[in-house]
Amino acid sequence: MFVKLFLVFCALTVTTVESKYRLKQVIILSRHNVRTPLARNLNEVTPKPWPSWKEKPGYLTPKGAYLEGIMGGYFSAWLKKEGILCSVCPTEDIFYAYANTEQRTVVSAMSFIDKAFPNCNVKVHFKEKPDPVFNPVIHNETTIFKNIAVKEMNTRLKHLSLNNSLLFVENILDYKDSVQCKSKNECDLLDNKNKINYRVGYKPYITGPLKVSKSVVDAFIMSYYEGFPMKDVAWDLITDKDHWKQIMEISNGYHDVIFNTTLVAKDIAAPLIKYMSDIFFSKEESPKITLLMGHDANMLTVLNTFNFKAYTLQNQFEKSPVGGKIVFQKWFDEKHKKDLLKINYVYQSTEQLRHGLNLSLEIPPEFTLLELKNCTADSNGFYVWDDFISFLKSLL
Ligand SMILES: *[C@@H]1O[C@H](CO)[C@@H](O)[C@H](O)[C@H]1NC(C)=O
Ligand SMILES: *[C@@H]1O[C@H](CO)[C@@H](O)[C@H](O)[C@H]1NC(C)=O
Ligand SMILES: *[C@@H]1O[C@H](CO)[C@@H](O)[C@H](O)[C@H]1NC(C)=O
Ligand SMILES: *[C@@H]1O[C@H](CO)[C@@H](O)[C@H](O)[C@H]1NC(C)=O
Ligand SMILES: *[C@@H]1O[C@H](CO)[C@@H](O)[C@H](O)[C@H]1NC(C)=O
Repeated sequence: MFVKLFLVFCALTVTTVESKYRLKQVIILSRHNVRTPLARNLNEVTPKPWPSWKEKPGYLTPKGAYLEGIMGGYFSAWLKKEGILCSVCPTEDIFYAYANTEQRTVVSAMSFIDKAFPNCNVKVHFKEKPDPVFNPVIHNETTIFKNIAVKEMNTRLKHLSLNNSLLFVENILDYKDSVQCKSKNECDLLDNKNKINYRVGYKPYITGPLKVSKSVVDAFIMSYYEGFPMKDVAWDLITDKDHWKQIMEISNGYHDVIFNTTLVAKDIAAPLIKYMSDIFFSKEESPKITLLMGHDANMLTVLNTFNFKAYTLQNQFEKSPVGGKIVFQKWFDEKHKKDLLKINYVYQSTEQLRHGLNLSLEIPPEFTLLELKNCTADSNGFYVWDDFISFLKSLL
């Protein structure tokens, strides 16, 4: 009772909001922040020395924690400005954090919270591994599903045109002088012998040169974000934005194959979409703000499932940047007494990540409007809430 009264009071004190709408509820679907490279065999793909990382493969780095803290600080300031958070420690009906079980997702959520709510002891919920809500695996056990899925993924794979990007990476690596080439006779990243691996209960993945290249690009971008000197970022051979764009096409292409066909994306994302829908559907009981901390697989399959229009993230090379957040906002139009929805991709630019730049209401992270193909927005990107709910029900 006390909390509810306080909240009302809190909302009433907000008089500076430029919009005529009041923010009622937020779901933040986030990717973890900067981590160490995932691949363990990078020494075999180049004769050159890689920079060394202190943490284990796939772990959030202290820089990643710092960057996610900056996001936490910003979100706290923004949500206070909109009147949905107060200056007191939030209870779980106000703010609820749920992360996938991996170290990088749990610690990302903790870092966000530490700076959003200093000294508040807000808990990060997570389950035992593997948590089905975040686990990006194939669920449908039928052969018919498998046949269509593999066919669609193969079509995407065939249509990738990455030769220039792959050649660039091959040259950066001196791939022809690598162990991979000399002792395994794998000397050509452009070689088309990529294979899609599909198994029920597993994440789909590709083996072959494309996977090698994608792992390398992942190591490059993480070392760039981590702030290594440029001699330790692709040995200083990526010298401008166009180079970055060119090599990122490899990860985008890889992800496009495994996570961006509608059938597969919808199947993989189903448990997470269900979890989010339960929050959207229940009016009073669900938390005002929910932070969900997952992986690019979660971001990409959810993006595909919601059938958004094509989007461009300014000042970013990635399609689903580290620390990036899809922010679903439920607003209330006081004048017309109706609920509205707005969705933004909120993320740190590559420069904000690399230089660890602080964020504030004056210097915010990047906001990109996400537009649904299946609902009609007003000129400011707001949808009628009930239209969105009908659409959401059709996805389940
Ligand atoms: C599995 O996929 C098939 C083919 O797309 C579909 O008809 C069926 O409903 C799916 N089953 C489940 C449990 O989703
Ligand atoms: C890309 O390179 C491979 C291997 O060299 C070649 O077979 C293929 O035709 C090239 N694709 C295009 C679109 O040039
Ligand atoms: C997914 O595919 C659509 C349509 O082919 C494309 O516009 C979009 O950029 C892709 N999304 C990602 C994240 O690659
Ligand atoms: C970052 O910005 C926040 C909000 O403006 C401020 O409270 C904090 O002191 C700043 N931190 C640093 C390290 O400048
Ligand atoms: C959403 O729009 C797509 C076309 O972009 C259409 O194929 C699909 O059936 C629509 N879904 C719903 C639930 O209306």
